[in-house]
Amino acid sequence: METVVSGIRPTGNLHLGNYFGAMKNFLKMQNENNCYFFIADYHSLTTHPTPGDLHGSVKQVLAEYLACGLDPEKATIYLQSDVREVTELYLLLNMNAYVGELERTTSFKDKVRKQPENVNAGLLTYPVLMAADIIIHNAAKVPVGKDQEQNLEMARKFARRFNNMYKVEYFKEPQPYNFGEALIKIPGLDGTGKMGKSEGNGIFLIDDEKTLKKKVMRAVTDSGPTEMNSKMPEPIQNLFTLMDVVSEKSTIEFFKEKYASCEIRYGDLKKQLAEDINAFVDPIREKINDIKSNDAYLRKVAMMGAEKARESATKTVKDVREIIGFKPF
Ligand code: TYM
Repeated sequence: METVVSGIRPTGNLHLGNYFGAMKNFLKMQNENNCYFFIADYHSLTTHPTPGDLHGSVKQVLAEYLACGLDPEKATIYLQSDVREVTELYLLLNMNAYVGELERTTSFKDKVRKQPENVNAGLLTYPVLMAADIIIHNAAKVPVGKDQEQNLEMARKFARRFNNMYKVEYFKEPQPYNFGEALIKIPGLDGTGKMGKSEGNGIFLIDDEKTLKKKVMRAVTDSGPTEMNSKMPEPIQNLFTLMDVVSEKSTIEFFKEKYASCEIRYGDLKKQLAEDINAFVDPIREKINDIKSNDAYLRKVAMMGAEKARESATKTVKDVREIIGFKPF
């Protein structure tokens, strides 16, 4: 049985990128593995240091997780901030992480561009905290989307470095995981780039039919192909990537043929895509609202998860302290 860890920041509702990049694989893995799934509330402070309603956001994401099918009887579901051992491991790993390598990561450089007024040390050491999240349970596999590839590479580096520095074979090197396939990137509706929580280009699991239809109908397209069998430009390819995850194969083939023969009507394609997305999110959306109103259940899940996660985290931190040489008097 392998240990699997994954997490998500509570900075907005779950979108199709989160679902197909991470959740879907996690749901498949929870039956056969020792799975930990957490809400990265410490991490969210790197971009949202004074959240209006941190607890409310966490609760919403927890309800969304559960509505997707995460099963608290099978997986350990918890809040990052409930497992304080993570912060100790983060501190210890920080001593072996170099400012230069952290400054070079793409996500850090991205954030420096996006929030120049708040380039905090938490942003710089984001990958160290993420490594701590993962190796605190000595995970072998991490189901994530393509955007997390570099963070995973850093986690492996910190695990390996710890082993080398202290001459032990303690931590596994965690691998990003997508059942033997390349990691996936779900695009946004704005033509380029990935679907994100705050990019204004997302389709959320909580979106009602009208909202998501409006979003899809407004997606960026072009004036249509003029040559037979021409290569699709990115915005059109993106619509097909979304279709790939929610539509029937025959539907996708139908529209691909229409594109190849220059007969495609983007309005029809979008209408179909909106319908297929709605059919996918409809049952999840209903469950989110049910679960969200059940405070007692959410509390129970979070408490149960915290206890199980702490058990594993405490053992790791105890071992790490011993390996480094901390000793009680
Ligand atoms: P976050 O909160 O941005 O996203 C959560 C998960 O959703 C995936 N994802 C996507 N996958 C495909 N296409 C997209 N457009 C897309 N957008 C998001 C992400 O890859 C991720 O798997 N740093 C992490 C949170 C984290 C974490 C961890 C993850 C903290 N510690 C330890 C795994 C293990 C993040 O910001 O994800």
